[in-house]
Amino acid sequence: MMDTQKKIAIIGAGNLGVAIAKGMVANDMVQPKNIYLTRRHLEKLDSLKPEGFQITSDNKKAVEGCEYIILCVQPKQLPAVLKEIEPALDAESHIFISTITGISISTIEEHLDITLPIVRAMPNTAIAISESMTCMCASNASEDQLKEVQQIFKALGETLIIDENLMKAATVLAASGIAFFLRYIRAATQGGIQLGFHAEEAQKIAMQTARGAASLLVEEHNHPETEIDKVTTPQGCTIAGLNEMEHQGLSSALIKGILTSFEKINTITK
Ligand SMILES: NC(=O)c1ccc[n+]([C@@H]2O[C@H](COP(=O)([O-])OP(=O)(O)OC[C@H]3O[C@@H](n4cnc5c(N)ncnc54)[C@H](OP(=O)(O)O)[C@@H]3O)[C@@H](O)[C@H]2O)c1
Repeated sequence: MMDTQKKIAIIGAGNLGVAIAKGMVANDMVQPKNIYLTRRHLEKLDSLKPEGFQITSDNKKAVEGCEYIILCVQPKQLPAVLKEIEPALDAESHIFISTITGISISTIEEHLDITLPIVRAMPNTAIAISESMTCMCASNASEDQLKEVQQIFKALGETLIIDENLMKAATVLAASGIAFFLRYIRAATQGGIQLGFHAEEAQKIAMQTARGAASLLVEEHNHPETEIDKVTTPQGCTIAGLNEMEHQGLSSALIKGILTSFEKINTITK
């Protein structure tokens, strides 16, 4: 378990940084007074002040007092941030956690003169409700250090340790994947409206059905086709609809979309 007295600096307390901070506090992992939140426009963190977080725009000061440094800035902001905090870094006491999309561990290392344990984590937007799928990889981190960082993200959903060369694939499957699943829910809603439901009723049915389908796999540990077989009565309506979707290329379209996203991510990140 992570030591609850450890101090954490979240550099770039925007959407993701604040979600991580709130998730850790909600799960009793760290007290707000041990979490330093930084950003330049501090007024945007005013609502968090009463909760007891340490709030500052001084990244260096935040880093000095902390063991874990979670980088949550946008990629273009990274070089300036690293330059600012480097004088305060100590290889013995600091662990870097980068959530920055498309920035490899070696890119971070190129900006630093010292060698630190670095964990790269790729959560998705469901981290805001502690339902993220976060893939992680590490460099120079001990098994215990990686486990401690994994605890942070386990409190915010599911985690998987992967090789860094799969990080782009993980970004497509888990981060872009949110959009892919949401588009299915929207399409199902549109179908439901055509069948006579009001939009909000159709969306409610589609959302809960999607959640139920995923939960059947998560909780029963079954293969999707096992659960599909349970729904498809011989000569029934489900198999008729499912086969028509496949004739129209449902599985093929999804796989091709995932591969196209992967081709694109390879052209825009190192
Ligand atoms: N959102 C997600 O669910 C998600 C999922 C996976 C990965 N990511 C990655 O996480 C990173 C953050 O995403 P986000 O959605 O949270 O973006 P965001 O809301 O724009 O947050 C970035 C924050 O960094 C702050 N910032 C910029 N320059 C700074 C500096 N020099 N010092 C301190 N803070 C600074 C910005 O605030 P000020 O302008 O006030 O300084 C802003 O609040 C991105 O690299 C993204 O790729 C996000």
